[in-house]
Amino acid sequence: MATNELLSVEGVSVFYDKFRALDRIDINVGAGEIVSIIGANGAGKSTLLKAIIGQAGRVEGRIQFEGENILGRATADIVAAGMMLVPEGRRLFPSLTVEENLRLGWAVGRKGEFGFAELWRLFPALEERKRQKAGSLSGGQQQMVALGRALLANPKLLLCDEISLGLAPLVVNELYALIPRVKERGIGILIVEQDIERSLAVADRFYCLLEGRVSLAGHPREATREMVMKHYFGL
Ligand SMILES: Nc1ncnc2c1ncn2[C@@H]1O[C@H](COP(=O)(O)OP(=O)(O)O)[C@@H](O)[C@H]1O
Ligand SMILES: [Mg+2]
Repeated sequence: MATNELLSVEGVSVFYDKFRALDRIDINVGAGEIVSIIGANGAGKSTLLKAIIGQAGRVEGRIQFEGENILGRATADIVAAGMMLVPEGRRLFPSLTVEENLRLGWAVGRKGEFGFAELWRLFPALEERKRQKAGSLSGGQQQMVALGRALLANPKLLLCDEISLGLAPLVVNELYALIPRVKERGIGILIVEQDIERSLAVADRFYCLLEGRVSLAGHPREATREMVMKHYFGL
């Protein structure tokens, strides 16, 4: 194990009834490292994140966080150990205010440097709207709340599931500008995206999933567009 290794997924398979959604996946993420998972719709990206944070059904293999087994542990324990998921579709409470939604992340109670002052500095638009209902915000602002909620828990590892989905490119730029700043703090980030270019531009390393298997892995600079397309679509 590398000294800075945060997450290690080894030989992980996930089953939904008899269907094998992931087939012996190996991935790892180091502290302060941005790792992208790319793959077409249905490739198994969300299943991977759910398996890591203890929300997938039947999981086989080994999952370690900071060298300790987390497979089979309750999500609340995994979160308390320092992992947060920004889920697909954001999952905010629309009738609660922005601030109330954010407090749910803070309530995880992990001590750390990331607090409300820092969050307002990163996302001034949220401070202006902190007393508005989350459901009244634009999609991009809601995604900022989802990301902010996760950061307020002061995670060591952040899992992001398709944070750009359905958002305008300018808003996505704003969200992605944040990722390197999270990395600077030594937080590991595992990003799932269908937007290949966006995802590879920000990543230190990437894995491509195809029908539940890792079809390609490496450094973005070493991967040609042709290689990525071939392993993304399996053509
Ligand atoms: N709760 C579930 N029950 C049964 N099959 C599921 C469930 N969730 C996902 N799947 C299936 O597992 C595969 C991977 O899904 P998913 O991880 O959501 O893919 P992705 O996030 O890459 O689009 C798909 O074939 C999907 O239909
Ligand atoms: Mg998904």
